[in-house]
Amino acid sequence: MREVNIALIGLGTVGSGVYKTICLQKQRVEHKEGISLNLKKVLALEYAIDIPDSLKATDFYADIVSDKSIDIVIELIGGISPAKEFILAALGAGKTVVTANKDLLAQHWPELNAAAKASGAGLYFEASVGGGIPIIRTIWESLQANEITSMMGIINGTTNYILTKMAEEKLSYEEVLAQAQAQGLAEANPKSDVEGYDAMYKLSILSSLAFHARVPVEYIYREGITGITLEDIKYGQELGYTLKLLAISKREGNTVQARVHPTMIPNTHPLASIRGAFNAIYLHGNIVDDIMLYGRGAGDMPTASAVMSDVIYAANQASHKYTTFYNEKDASSEMTFEKNWESAFFLRLIVLDAPNVLAKIAGIFGSHGVSLASVMQKEHGSESVPLVLITHKAKELSVKQALGELSKIKEVTSVANAIRVES
Ligand SMILES: NC(=O)c1ccc[n+]([C@@H]2O[C@H](COP(=O)([O-])OP(=O)(O)OC[C@H]3O[C@@H](n4cnc5c(N)ncnc54)[C@H](OP(=O)(O)O)[C@@H]3O)[C@@H](O)[C@H]2O)c1
Repeated sequence: MREVNIALIGLGTVGSGVYKTICLQKQRVEHKEGISLNLKKVLALEYAIDIPDSLKATDFYADIVSDKSIDIVIELIGGISPAKEFILAALGAGKTVVTANKDLLAQHWPELNAAAKASGAGLYFEASVGGGIPIIRTIWESLQANEITSMMGIINGTTNYILTKMAEEKLSYEEVLAQAQAQGLAEANPKSDVEGYDAMYKLSILSSLAFHARVPVEYIYREGITGITLEDIKYGQELGYTLKLLAISKREGNTVQARVHPTMIPNTHPLASIRGAFNAIYLHGNIVDDIMLYGRGAGDMPTASAVMSDVIYAANQASHKYTTFYNEKDASSEMTFEKNWESAFFLRLIVLDAPNVLAKIAGIFGSHGVSLASVMQKEHGSESVPLVLITHKAKELSVKQALGELSKIKEVTSVANAIRVES
């Protein structure tokens, strides 16, 4: 039986899940893999769960980096510093690192990858995207023969929970956010989730692996869900759409578009059925065709499942694998990042209830090359009424210019929302 000596840093949500998993599944892993998981040290600021004193570390460098017997360091403290320094020190000492830290990986991957390569240690991060969903290894180890051309994902559980609750219980964004915070499903400071940063980091990691080209976060368009209202969701529903915060990336030749934003998708789209805090990633490879992976995108035990898959995988490798694409701070000069991509739009305008208003609006869209696919105006009688339009696919810039022009005419009281539509 091969013994693998492990140090765990961080004993919060995921760290506690990993600790429990090692205790619970130790024998199963021995039977299945012939590996004995030997937890040697645990470093935490506070020990909220009961662990033997003999495991408790007090100093990362003295107790873990300097301990030559430790093979694998599991980093679950999150954030950039000191996580980055800890990981670099562990890699520098030849220890394989398993991390769930998407913020760090998305922003400092080149440096971490180079440090791992230099010492021959492994760097694994299955839990950084999609919680328990094995999406990283699926792209890296199961879809190698494919050219992956597009990816759409619900990769932030908090926002999917909020949008699902708003749609199903007809509640406002503020009401659902407060409920989610009370239940621990959203952070007290929800910015990273609701403004799309978390999904942006994850999309950077996934797109880089899928497209075999680094997609730095700076090239990803980001828009969160804070401007979404119940009206948008209700009108979308009436038109047969479900509203999701999607992470979308596409590659055509050497051109990549990567974006995170609220998106209307037809109710028949596989991603429309993903409810609550669940995640799903839907991608297209030229050989495999369409594929969707679905599961719990967060939580102590699902995320621990992904962390432990990395630990066991790493323990089984004679030598480790590193990224083979141009993995530097900026993207390769061969790559172009599209900002003026094409998509359809759901537009909610507040307009004067008067004759010829629609003709004037359609005329302005037409002058920017934007054509309308459907129009819905249900309310009449008051001075200003909502008008909901779905455009055909159009260039981003054309729609924005048309909306700019519309917002200046007296017939349009306001552009209440503009939400992209994907099919
Ligand atoms: N939660 C999830 O479902 C989930 C899913 C996927 C990925 N992740 C990623 O997993 C990582 C951990 O997330 P989490 O939710 O478990 O966070 P968490 O609950 O906040 O746990 C982090 C723990 O690390 C401790 N810590 C901070 N600095 C430390 C240090 N210098 N030395 C030792 N311990 C330290 C914290 O202690 P204090 O609380 O006392 O500061 C806290 O207990 C993050 O990178 C996160 O993005 C989380």
